[in-house]
Amino acid sequence: MTCIDLLLARRSVAPKDLCEPGPSAEQLEQILRCAHRVPDHGKLGPWRFVVFEGEARADFGNRLGEIYQGDFPELGVDLSSVQQQLLLRAPLVIAVISTAGPHVKIPEWEQVLSAGAACQNILVAASSLGFGACWLTEWYSYHPKVKALLGLEEHHAIAGFIYIGTAKQKPDDRVRPPLAERLVYWSGT
Ligand SMILES: Cc1cc2nc3c(=O)[nH]c(=O)nc-3n(C[C@H](O)[C@H](O)[C@H](O)COP(=O)(O)O)c2cc1C
Repeated sequence: MTCIDLLLARRSVAPKDLCEPGPSAEQLEQILRCAHRVPDHGKLGPWRFVVFEGEARADFGNRLGEIYQGDFPELGVDLSSVQQQLLLRAPLVIAVISTAGPHVKIPEWEQVLSAGAACQNILVAASSLGFGACWLTEWYSYHPKVKALLGLEEHHAIAGFIYIGTAKQKPDDRVRPPLAERLVYWSGT
């Protein structure tokens, strides 16, 4: 498949539709190198990657379970089990962190966009290697205790968790807003 065909057909694969195998160590490195090669105004490298594979997924999930349970103690029921399983939905998960912050020359917004581009490069790289992938934020990307768990600074943000694995089935196409409704050709004032 050519790059243009891949981009025109790309679809996310929901974590429930992902299974083993995930990328090999060599493929993971390729994916990360693609993520690391995004447009980056000022060469700031305003992103970080956290890789979860194997037992690390369960370990992080256990911590998510504790955090989630801690938020709803009054309910008196065990809410943690679903959260513990979250990262186990795919063989590989990569968290992308935006380290964007104030800078004398480079607007913070542009740094955030660069982290978003890193997420998209991960999706496209995984796809081109034949894997399914999905970019999720869910609740834990925004929880201050999860940010602390990952050692993030106050101004850092989690751009998302990218779940990667083998697609159990090819996803159906998805209705897209018509391009023509979002496009104009500038023709002067
Ligand atoms: C920053 C960001 C966060 C997202 N978070 C979620 C999420 O938490 N849950 C979800 O169902 N989809 C989420 N999505 C949407 C999916 O990644 C995906 O784009 C959507 O399911 C549509 O599939 P498609 O990529 O094939 O169009 C998010 C997308 C972006 C860009």
